[in-house]
Amino acid sequence: MKLDISPKIKAYLDAHPDESPLLVVELAEVERRYKKLTGLLPFAACHYAVKANPDPAIVKLLASLGSSFDAASAQEIQLCLESGATPDRILFGNTIKKQSDIAWAYSQGIRMFVCDSVGEVDKLAIAAPGSKIFARLRVGGEAGAAWPLSKKFGCTRDVACEIMIRAKEKGLVPYGLSFHVGSQQTVVEPHFAAIALTELVFDDLVEEGIQLEAIDIGGGFPAQYRDAIPPIEDFAETIIESIERNFEGRPLKVLMEPGRYLVADAGVLRAEVVLISYHKEINATRWVYLDIGKFSGLVEAEAIQYRIISEKDTDKEEDTARVILAGPTCDSIDVIYEEAEYYLPNNLAVGDKLYFLSAGAYTTTYSSVGFNGFPPLKCVCI
Ligand SMILES: Cc1ncc(COP(=O)(O)O)c(C=O)c1O
Repeated sequence: MKLDISPKIKAYLDAHPDESPLLVVELAEVERRYKKLTGLLPFAACHYAVKANPDPAIVKLLASLGSSFDAASAQEIQLCLESGATPDRILFGNTIKKQSDIAWAYSQGIRMFVCDSVGEVDKLAIAAPGSKIFARLRVGGEAGAAWPLSKKFGCTRDVACEIMIRAKEKGLVPYGLSFHVGSQQTVVEPHFAAIALTELVFDDLVEEGIQLEAIDIGGGFPAQYRDAIPPIEDFAETIIESIERNFEGRPLKVLMEPGRYLVADAGVLRAEVVLISYHKEINATRWVYLDIGKFSGLVEAEAIQYRIISEKDTDKEEDTARVILAGPTCDSIDVIYEEAEYYLPNNLAVGDKLYFLSAGAYTTTYSSVGFNGFPPLKCVCI
């Protein structure tokens, strides 16, 4: 079996042959990636985006390594606190928060919040008085991102200024600007443009008597799916160069919120073939149904194209054919890959295993609690 997966993960999967679907994450790889990224950007406080994979073992590991956290909800804040992070290391990064959750976070000692609308500032002023506020800017460059985020999040330069002016009026601390260049960002230029934009807003606000202190460069650092990606060093270089060019000589605190980069490549998801059939009236393509699908963790599929390998992989092209991959539920949207071209061996059979590489991010959390009775995707950290 020619499987391009780490020996440790392979050994675990071999020792548990009947567990499927199953995600196995190698903690040593998460640690290696954390050290690599923080080594390349040593001046930036690393706030792991918990949403990428909130397995307590991962959060505990990162807390023990000194990481800070970007939490999207009260529940993620609770998890970080239980995993050893102190409140000063947690940023409530979701721009959409219930006032009761803001108040709870404040009661736990959380003092950094992100928003992208003036309405959110008013809630923060009541529920989190005196806290540090980030305004999240909408940035371009979404074309390079497999999973864009700017449609729903972020504000214009003008609104960012309004937010900060209002924050100051209301007794909050106008602290910094954040952005996200889109998840699985495959080009470096958007970071360059986004950092330049933060500098413009810094200057706008100086004219209003407000001196911001920090920028939060978000996540977006890519994982190794099917397409080639630039090395992480290229992103780091661009970020360093942009900060130097725009903020030269000025004191600046920098935060980052990596999610996918830290955990995706550390995980392998094993699935099993449940059925192979042809719907000849639709097309001549073989349908391969797996025990995992859109409802059990593969929501990002199509936009995100995992490397998939089987135990029967062959170098002979003529022994493979295109497939449509689909999940096991009684829902017609439960199709994993139809547009993306995937080829699998012709002798693939029911019961065979498929391995989705780099599946450690945004899989378990997207898994439903039990659609059609199928249990949520299980994650084991080794
Ligand atoms: C606010 C925020 N920060 C960080 C992240 C992590 O991004 P990525 O997984 O691309 O690193 C996300 C992803 O959705 C996010 O919404």
